[in-house]
Amino acid sequence: MRVNTLLSHVALIGAAHALECSLSAIQSVLSLGASVNFAYPLDAGATFDTPSGDLGYPTDAVGLPALCAVSVQVQSINNSSYGLGLFLPENWNGRFLAVGNGGFAGGINWLDMGPGVRYGFATMSTDTGHNSTSFDGSWAYQHPERVENWGHLAMHGSVVTSKLITAQYYEKNITYNYYAGCSTGGRQGLKEAERYPEDFDGIIAGAPAWWTTHLQPWTNKVALLNLPTTAATHIPPALFPTIAAEVLNQCDSQDGLNDTIISDPMNCDFNADKLLCASNTTDNTTCLTSPQLETLNHIYSNWVNDNGTFLFTHMQLGTEGQWPLISGTAPNALGSDFVKFFLGLGPDWDFNTFTDEIVNLAESINPGNATVGFDLSAFEARGGKLLAYHGLSDGLIPTGSTPYFYDRVTGELEPKGIDIDAFFRYFLVPGMGHCTGTTADFNAPWYFAGPNQAPALGPEVYSVPGFQDKEHDAMLAMMAWVEEGTAPDLIIGTKFVNESTQAEVLRQRPLCMYPKMAVYTGTGDVNAAASWECTA
Ligand SMILES: *[C@@H]1O[C@H](CO)[C@@H](O)[C@H](O)[C@H]1NC(C)=O
Ligand SMILES: *[C@@H]1O[C@H](CO)[C@@H](O)[C@H](O)[C@H]1NC(C)=O
Ligand SMILES: *[C@@H]1O[C@H](CO)[C@@H](O)[C@H](O)[C@H]1NC(C)=O
Ligand SMILES: *[C@@H]1O[C@H](CO)[C@@H](O)[C@H](O)[C@H]1NC(C)=O
Ligand SMILES: *[C@@H]1O[C@H](CO)[C@@H](O)[C@H](O)[C@H]1NC(C)=O
Ligand SMILES: *[C@@H]1O[C@H](CO)[C@@H](O)[C@H](O)[C@H]1NC(C)=O
Ligand SMILES: *[C@@H]1O[C@H](CO)[C@@H](O)[C@H](O)[C@H]1NC(C)=O
Ligand SMILES: *[C@@H]1O[C@H](CO)[C@@H](O)[C@H](O)[C@H]1NC(C)=O
Ligand SMILES: *[C@@H]1O[C@H](CO)[C@@H](O)[C@H](O)[C@H]1NC(C)=O
Ligand SMILES: *[C@@H]1O[C@H](CO)[C@@H](O)[C@H](O)[C@H]1NC(C)=O
Repeated sequence: MRVNTLLSHVALIGAAHALECSLSAIQSVLSLGASVNFAYPLDAGATFDTPSGDLGYPTDAVGLPALCAVSVQVQSINNSSYGLGLFLPENWNGRFLAVGNGGFAGGINWLDMGPGVRYGFATMSTDTGHNSTSFDGSWAYQHPERVENWGHLAMHGSVVTSKLITAQYYEKNITYNYYAGCSTGGRQGLKEAERYPEDFDGIIAGAPAWWTTHLQPWTNKVALLNLPTTAATHIPPALFPTIAAEVLNQCDSQDGLNDTIISDPMNCDFNADKLLCASNTTDNTTCLTSPQLETLNHIYSNWVNDNGTFLFTHMQLGTEGQWPLISGTAPNALGSDFVKFFLGLGPDWDFNTFTDEIVNLAESINPGNATVGFDLSAFEARGGKLLAYHGLSDGLIPTGSTPYFYDRVTGELEPKGIDIDAFFRYFLVPGMGHCTGTTADFNAPWYFAGPNQAPALGPEVYSVPGFQDKEHDAMLAMMAWVEEGTAPDLIIGTKFVNESTQAEVLRQRPLCMYPKMAVYTGTGDVNAAASWECTA
């Protein structure tokens, strides 16, 4: 068991709170336009009963420490409103944490607030101003005010309101403010850094869906590459494992070590022709025809329009285990609902009419101002720290979009004399899918207590069990960076056997700060982090 430096030397404040945990007491510190739905105490070990009808996040948070559970409704633009949930722990660490959302989901993410409150944070989530599952964007239709809430207003407003409640509740100033989110949550974090630089001292942004106006159209585009299912070009999902095996075969060894993990897909010189069916073949279940190979090559290529303009990055080699976007009979709703309801083409829009021009329409509307810009100078100037990461086997948001963002920010800020490494670092995670998890083929060390990750290992998990330190836990790494000035060069990823924190650790390996990569030193156990180093 490692010594948990940050959690041990920063004693929990053990707040004797100044305010009662009651609706009327919390309401008394709020101004007009914010009304408390409920506020009540929970004993240690309790389950928070998610209010029925939270379509985005129906799962209860369980095994909580003693806390005050608060829900507030806040009025927003054009007669709209958004809700926020806040857990105020008895054993407060003096800090504030906001967690993010996913997809188009509307709902307070009580589940992800659970791990936050176990560190001792006063922890907040916003419902982003609507009530829906991740894959339902119909709420956006002809409601630009709801889209604006989803895009940025609800997060910022919920942060401001929650910080006020927190400081009043404990009658103490908050020492540090943090954010952690993945996917849409990653976008929300980057948006905060860009537009509301004062909100947070440290932001963790995983697999950020930051380029809304291009990512959502691409979600249609990539599906249409493999449609209709009757076309000769269609690759049936039954062939995905064959493709995955060939990619692993070629790219695993090209990165220098045969370890079932593709560490460097961006530099893998993949020869898809190895998958081509022999002309005399009678078995089409383990090889691809020429038209299918053409589709595959498109899937792995950047999206570029007829004018040669780059529109979006490609699906990464090694994502084949997570291809829901290209396995259906229609584009995923994250693509088609965006066109129908955010761009206003309506519920009857036929995805077969999709053209690259949709991107121009998306750019001209920029729904909800959701897309994140590259000027993070105000966040840097106030001393903010930004830690981003992206799974290299993410089949929902192409991994390359994060290096692209990083490079654009660098292009914007370096000429101004800003040292990027001093405030913005990002990590690629070999073998990790979208935000959490890895396939059985890879067994990659994907866990580092990033946003959304703990609930994927178990309902009462937080931090990295057995390794609760800043080397293994991204949250503690961020706190060390903000509070002690120790910037993370690497974070050690962990893979537990069967994803069970009760079982032994299968592998650990450093996740390196871009553009470095983890390389085996050539000696020692390949499953031990110490046998690896980050090199350029
Ligand atoms: C969300 O929608 C469901 C289904 O329409 C409804 O039952 C529930 O009350 C709504 N919840 C909120 C918080 O609006
Ligand atoms: C807000 O609601 C009020 C009362 O229903 C209405 O008069 C007003 O037009 C609405 N404002 C907007 C911008 O929709
Ligand atoms: C808010 O309402 C005003 C008045 O109806 C309208 O001009 C504006 O576009 C609306 N804004 C949003 C974001 O809905
Ligand atoms: C909070 O900080 C402000 C300004 O830094 C200070 O004036 C105030 O006394 C502090 N409040 C508490 C409760 O410590
Ligand atoms: C990896 O395994 C393949 C055979 O599967 C072999 O040809 C190759 O040399 C091995 N590469 C390394 C770096 O060990
Ligand atoms: C197809 O042809 C190759 C040589 O061109 C031969 O090795 C193979 O056995 C043949 N397969 C079948 C199913 O006839
Ligand atoms: C193989 O060919 C048969 C007959 O043409 C077809 O029904 C089936 O879908 C094909 N399977 C694959 C994996 O392409
Ligand atoms: C290509 O460029 C022309 C002229 O700038 C423009 O009108 C057209 O929309 C572009 N095509 C696409 C697919 O963006
Ligand atoms: C987006 O933000 C800008 C200010 O940065 C504002 O002028 C504009 O109205 C916003 N767009 C929408 C659709 O509300
Ligand atoms: C992991 O899961 C497999 C399959 O369910 C099982 O056979 C094995 O015993 C498990 N190992 C551990 C350490 O739990």
